[in-house]
Amino acid sequence: MKVSEFMKRLKDWKRGDERLYLQQILNSTVGPAIVEDYMKFDWRYVAEKKNKHNWGELTSNLLFIGMEGNVTPCHYDEQENFFAQIYGYKRCILFSPDQFECLYPHPVHHPHDRQSMVDFDRPDYNKFPKFKSLNGCETVVEPGDVLYIPIYWWHHVESLMRGGSTITVNFWYKAGPTSLEYPLKQHQKVSIMRNVEKMLLEVLQDPKEVGPLLRAMVLGRYNE
Ligand code: SIN
Ligand code: FE
Repeated sequence: MKVSEFMKRLKDWKRGDERLYLQQILNSTVGPAIVEDYMKFDWRYVAEKKNKHNWGELTSNLLFIGMEGNVTPCHYDEQENFFAQIYGYKRCILFSPDQFECLYPHPVHHPHDRQSMVDFDRPDYNKFPKFKSLNGCETVVEPGDVLYIPIYWWHHVESLMRGGSTITVNFWYKAGPTSLEYPLKQHQKVSIMRNVEKMLLEVLQDPKEVGPLLRAMVLGRYNE
């Protein structure tokens, strides 16, 4: 959908209509005015950060235009992210990759891969008991703020309920070159787990067979 079309739908939106959230790659199709603004971004600032932290290349920018109260469920991405808040206010809660077990991610083959299975509004503690031990860092970003969301860090993002519409532009960078140093960092272990799941799916072919095989490997053998 064109940005102009989306803005019209946002203007005509009435209570009871489905919520709207535009999330699209920022490229020349979004219109010349936005592209012009984008060129005025402080590129020296981002280039300095990229070089300092040895990230890879900028892969894409994502434009988010949302309504107050919109929620992006807790998930992690496989790229470094500079989250630039342009308009309105968003509450962001970040969780480090070592809290993987408290967040119960969907299996890799699931359409909600990289997303937590826990409903943050109504957590089922019987199913997800470790969610109680979760510890995050919370902030509210406002226009002009740039939040760094490191690769594999979980993030739950919501546009404040009475904060008006929101606009964000994400700057996604490839991870920098990594060498294996021991002990492994938690995000490297997450990456290994993802690869094991992917390899099992490739050989077993049926997603339903992955869980039982993993359970057979572990249960009664690896539980202290
Ligand atoms: C959002 O702003 O709603 C989500 C941003 C992200 O996942 O990086
Ligand atoms: Fe994300």
